[in-house]
Amino acid sequence: MKRIALLTSGGDCPGMNAAIRSIVRTCLSMNIQPFGFEQGYKGLIENRIIPMDNKSVANIIQRGGTILRSARSEQFKTKEGRDTAVEVLKKNKIDGLIVIGGDGSLTGANILYKDYGINVVGLPGSIDNDIYGTDMSIGVDTALNTILRSIDTINDTASSHDRTFLIEVMGRNCGYLALMSAIAGGAEAVLIPEVPYDIEGIIKKIKKRYEEGKTRSIIVVAEGVGSAYDFGKVFGMIGGFDTRITVLGHIQRGGSPTVFDRILATRLGTAAVEAFAAGSSGVMVGLQKTKVTLVPFEEVLGNKKMIDSKLLEIAEILSR
Ligand code: F6P
Repeated sequence: MKRIALLTSGGDCPGMNAAIRSIVRTCLSMNIQPFGFEQGYKGLIENRIIPMDNKSVANIIQRGGTILRSARSEQFKTKEGRDTAVEVLKKNKIDGLIVIGGDGSLTGANILYKDYGINVVGLPGSIDNDIYGTDMSIGVDTALNTILRSIDTINDTASSHDRTFLIEVMGRNCGYLALMSAIAGGAEAVLIPEVPYDIEGIIKKIKKRYEEGKTRSIIVVAEGVGSAYDFGKVFGMIGGFDTRITVLGHIQRGGSPTVFDRILATRLGTAAVEAFAAGSSGVMVGLQKTKVTLVPFEEVLGNKKMIDSKLLEIAEILSR
């Protein structure tokens, strides 16, 4: 391996810069020339390649977002787009490509590996924590901490006014952020796409809690189950609660990465370069039970990450 390129793709997440820094500096330490493609697969197709050096990744470990920028490329979903991407990689004599992103980005990486024979290693980067094969994806811990700061803040004003708040968090298909933040934030209920919900049961529970002297209620809603505004109307009308809604939106995706995310991204970045050096390809570098592990793309993409049923049980018990 003489020339390795990297790109960040899909929804950005805090820790991507720490991963970029780690990949670039590990490459340099092994006499490999690192390159970055701007804006994910879009920039790859458009041949927007930048040679990277020690200085280009200085002072970025603490910064959210991605210095390479990111995109969701429609063109890469077409065969013509992918053919062009492969031509660009060959023209630039790239021996290996590292893709940092979520499920969709890793699916693209697998196509490059399987259908075109390109050496590819993936890093899981998504705040949703929906990628199979890694206990944690880069960005999840930071997003959770951001959500928790908001829940704690809302708690103060909710308590002062005896209000019921519905807080909508990200997670299109996955309720991980909602469930974990509900547990850590002491919420009364959580609605996630993986589990059927019982609105009447929740309303009954909240009423009982108010009768027992509780001065506020927090309900965390994963965006994948529907709009918090729609649920809020139901809670206001049927429950008769003084209800307010907060949609956290993209606030959850930004901000300086936590220690956990910086270290995770750094470890996975180094491991990705080492994986190439050891002759591996078509794998994602993940974290399993504190160990950095190589997981074949087939396994990552052929399985669905499940919500931990014990955590669901804990959320239910503690909110009674
Ligand atoms: O996949 C990460 C994520 O933040 C999801 O939780 C969310 O549904 C989606 O991206 C939002 O995408 P966009 O930034 O393109 O609106």
